[in-house]
Amino acid sequence: MNKPFSQACENNKRPILTILTKVFSKTKHVLEIGSGTGQHAVFFGHHLAHLTWQTSDLLINHQGINFWLDEAVLPNVQRPLVVDLNKAWPIPQNNLPIDGIYTANTLHIISWPLVIKFFEGIAQNLSSKASICIYGPFNYQGKFTSESNANFDSWLKDRDINSGIRDIEAILLLASSAGLNLIDDHAMPANNRLLVFSKK
Ligand SMILES: C[S@@+](CC[C@H](N)C(=O)[O-])C[C@H]1O[C@@H](n2cnc3c(N)ncnc32)[C@H](O)[C@@H]1O
Repeated sequence: MNKPFSQACENNKRPILTILTKVFSKTKHVLEIGSGTGQHAVFFGHHLAHLTWQTSDLLINHQGINFWLDEAVLPNVQRPLVVDLNKAWPIPQNNLPIDGIYTANTLHIISWPLVIKFFEGIAQNLSSKASICIYGPFNYQGKFTSESNANFDSWLKDRDINSGIRDIEAILLLASSAGLNLIDDHAMPANNRLLVFSKK
């Protein structure tokens, strides 16, 4: 089996890194939710060598992530944990306090009840003063920000009626309930956003 590959990750990793470099400058232990191919983990882990990057995903994606980790040989990037948002988050094997969360392109894939659980997990598992970075497309004032996002949303819902681009206002309410303050809402390439929160 070849390493899984996402062209979108190749396209967005540098603009995302520019922001993560600032946001995670004092962060020690990042947990990535939904690592997907593992491309982001090896790229960010390589460039943010001062922190540990814990990958995670459903078991079905672990082999692919491990292919990327085998090739990269980065001491600070950890083998994937099974974090299924349907279940309680496992405590990281290395037992380090998580003070950073990164997730990309997950909130429009998982169902709304799982989005709620994602924020509950943050409330339960993160140290105070943690930084949380969420990348992906969002709607503002009930509207798509581009025609391509509207088309993407239709495509998602044809695949899975429970998926779809989320309203930023609903995300901010959940974040606030989880004890998070919005620090920045960055415009990113291809009509995506990078939301940065800190835990109160
Ligand atoms: C569109 S992919 C994004 C992958 C990667 N972060 C990226 O930017 O390319 C969505 C990810 O969400 C993960 N995912 C789906 N359901 C999940 C669940 N219940 N718990 C945790 N992750 C889930 C998938 O396995 C997949 O890795």
